[in-house]
Amino acid sequence: MSGIVGYIGNSSAQPILLDCLTHLDYRGYDSAGVAISNLEKIELRKETGRIEDLDASLQIDPILEGHLGIGHTRWASHGAPTILNAHPITDEKERFIVVHNGIIENYLKLKSHLISQGYLFVTDTDTEVIPHLLVEYDTGDVEETVRKVLPMLKGSFALAIMSRNQPDTIIGISQENPLIVGFGNNEAFLSSDIAALLSYTKEIHPIKNGEIAVLRPGEVKIKTIAGDTIHPKKRIIEWHEDDFSLQDYDHYMLKEIMEQPAALKNTLKGRLTETGVQLPELDSFFEEHDVSQFRRIIIVANGTSYHSGLIGKKVMETMLDIPIETAVSSEFCCEHGPLNEKALILIISQSGETADTLSAWSEAKRYGCPTIAITNKRRGNLARKADYTICTNAGPELAVPATKAYTTQITVLLLLSILFTEKTQGPGLNRVPDMIKELHQLPEEVDKTLIMTQDAIDQFAQVTEDQQSLFLIGRGLDYVLALEGALKLQEVAYLHADAYAAGEMKHGTMALITPGVPVIALSTQKHLREKTINNIKELKARDAFVVGVTTIGDDEVSEIVDEVMYIPEAHPYLMPIIAAIPLQLLAYYAGTVRGYNVDRPRNLAKSLTVE
Ligand code: F6R
Repeated sequence: MSGIVGYIGNSSAQPILLDCLTHLDYRGYDSAGVAISNLEKIELRKETGRIEDLDASLQIDPILEGHLGIGHTRWASHGAPTILNAHPITDEKERFIVVHNGIIENYLKLKSHLISQGYLFVTDTDTEVIPHLLVEYDTGDVEETVRKVLPMLKGSFALAIMSRNQPDTIIGISQENPLIVGFGNNEAFLSSDIAALLSYTKEIHPIKNGEIAVLRPGEVKIKTIAGDTIHPKKRIIEWHEDDFSLQDYDHYMLKEIMEQPAALKNTLKGRLTETGVQLPELDSFFEEHDVSQFRRIIIVANGTSYHSGLIGKKVMETMLDIPIETAVSSEFCCEHGPLNEKALILIISQSGETADTLSAWSEAKRYGCPTIAITNKRRGNLARKADYTICTNAGPELAVPATKAYTTQITVLLLLSILFTEKTQGPGLNRVPDMIKELHQLPEEVDKTLIMTQDAIDQFAQVTEDQQSLFLIGRGLDYVLALEGALKLQEVAYLHADAYAAGEMKHGTMALITPGVPVIALSTQKHLREKTINNIKELKARDAFVVGVTTIGDDEVSEIVDEVMYIPEAHPYLMPIIAAIPLQLLAYYAGTVRGYNVDRPRNLAKSLTVE
């Protein structure tokens, strides 16, 4: 997945395109490129690496000055991150210039047809079939040619296209992949995300499937694939520039960790009353469905969102006394057991764009399953598709490692668990008043945790600096949290971190414990404490360096570990949120102490729009 931008107006296009791309580099940072037109000629420049590298290259060796152009920041999916594979991608004679996000699923078939027609392919990308197809079917008018070629492309993609014959035109296309038109004062923009547009305009139109945006000097037309003009319903962006700026922080990751008390307040706002929970977005769901009648309830997501789903599963099934299943989206879309309208699918995705998750949604719909989305993008792809949507309201998350997405998703799952329990009169009904009382305190408790743990974690992160691997253990909800803690350390600090159910170490992994190996032992679930303590003792007997994460005053844990990280005590179901804070901070400091770019970890990107 990648980021696409376009500009047309009275200002110089290059600085605007570069600025917009900088806001999209969370979508990929393997290479970047621009194509600029001065209405007579088009010139291209691409570089491997980040936007800064492209900028530096343009400073040293400028290309033409123009008021119109397109740009791209790439996460390599098809082909290595080389200059050749960087976008814009063109045909041999650079007649058509294309930037692309997503996947052309049938590109191999198209490619072999085009090769048989004598077209020469020079990149390893799926994108390259597009400029060649445009040449093959060129009618002399770029808009008409695009309309001819578009039905030949299969997959989920967004494109911005320019043509050397009509250097005053940019075409934007979105098929199951975000692309937004921004309307300025005598200028217009294209962008994969509103994040890039905020300092230019707040008036937007997300291009829908089957629409083509045609940008020319002084005009923007949205058309159907048949060529009919549509009057776009312009929307005003609700987010503010401040939401996207670093403010006083060095990294978005730390900013987003610190924002969690406010994000959680937003998630709970209007949903938590003194005595209960209300989710009006599910009113029609409850009119049409009886939760106790579902034969299967399956939570589907990827990565961190999957981990929050695992917490949701454990809480929900004890409260409802209905078995809840979980599946990673990339597996669910291939294998899932029997599905029908009696299977409820809860789909979690911060971005609402993850291709694996959207594919899981399609699979669920193929069998007529009702779907509820939990997402941070109120108008994202997933929200548009799902039957019902609950927004986490966490505000923009720009660091690639998910932090506030995780804690706000769990919070929504707790609200949903309460509501489902009330509707089904489940056995967890007697726990509801306590949960509600403690949910009211949650933002404050998270705030306290941030204050209590930040300095201690910073010091511990220094200890991990020379380590290659680390283990996390826990039981029950602590085990699930350990999985998330390990993922954060892997992606941010490039540490080989592994999570184990505390009782499992002795069944094999204990062989890896040698003196000084760091282990983080989570003990936040009171009813599992004694057993976890025994497991910690087993590790200490092998001289592991154990850091305990436990609630304030738990002296028994603090006495047997090497270091202890105290956190406030709350309802057991809320502890995976509170205890996530020290683990997120640990990953952050372990990454920064090693000098890594924690916001943009290597080989990764946010919003993975390829399967
Ligand atoms: C890890 C991380 C990823 C995402 C995953 C799903 O820090 O950010 O594991 O959680 O790619 O992304 P969404 O939630 O956008 O579908």
